[in-house]
Amino acid sequence: MSLLKLENITKRFGGLIAVNKVSLEISKGEFVGIVGPNGSGKTTLFNVISGVYFPEEGRVIFDGQDITTLQPYKRAPLGIGRTFQIPRPFASATVRENVAVGAMFGTLSGKVSVDESLEIADKTIERVRLQEHKDKPAGALTPVEKKLMEIARALAMKPKLLLMDEAMAGMHPNDIDQMVAFIKQIAVEEKIAIVSMVEHIMRAVVGMAEKVIVLHQGSKIVDAPTKEALEDPKVVEVYLGHPPEE
Ligand SMILES: Nc1ncnc2c1ncn2[C@@H]1O[C@H](COP(=O)(O)OP(=O)(O)OP(=O)(O)O)[C@@H](O)[C@H]1O
Ligand SMILES: [Mg+2]
Repeated sequence: MSLLKLENITKRFGGLIAVNKVSLEISKGEFVGIVGPNGSGKTTLFNVISGVYFPEEGRVIFDGQDITTLQPYKRAPLGIGRTFQIPRPFASATVRENVAVGAMFGTLSGKVSVDESLEIADKTIERVRLQEHKDKPAGALTPVEKKLMEIARALAMKPKLLLMDEAMAGMHPNDIDQMVAFIKQIAVEEKIAIVSMVEHIMRAVVGMAEKVIVLHQGSKIVDAPTKEALEDPKVVEVYLGHPPEE
């Protein structure tokens, strides 16, 4: 049984079809990259999975349960964790407190005390190497540190599915390689499926994803193992604007 199944999802904004009849399946522990040019519907699809938007058509099935119209705060305890394309920390709370919130509202919600959440936060913060900054207000972090904190907060949720929206944008290539290795290691250890929505950072996609799904103008045009997907003439055309042989 797949962990996540989207059946024929359509999401419109007025007359604009942001996501057009997209179906896909993600297995437990799988690493999937969703790519596509700007405006192709990645973040919208992401928001449909996390519950920020409800689709006009189609169904979202998670772990065998229809969650199409379940409120977002009820999805986190089921095991859907996410990062934001634009990090939205509680700026005046410390890094440690921000990450602890992840633990409190994730799959452990109702099962951990505040102290236990802070312990989980400390461990997770160490894993993303932010320990020197953990008592700073989140608002004082650099953009890259904020992204790392986002990842830590999502991991502290102990998700079954981790949705990352351009979580590595703006990072130095060496940091991306390190981050990819680190996220993969945790995901394997904790059997987390990762769906990463990325546009420019092919380096992260190639390093991380076993499968790549390509969106173009809201539609899924390719869904294949990474190498095959990135060599697909349709993908080359979408990114370069013409078929490769021209
Ligand atoms: N809240 C909204 N209201 C109206 N239109 C929206 C809204 N959110 C997204 N759109 C539109 O839906 C389409 C898909 O946008 P989306 O943000 O999902 O793309 P994306 O692939 O994430 O792009 P990017 O790579 O720039 O992050 C775009 O045409 C966008 O302008
Ligand atoms: Mg986006």
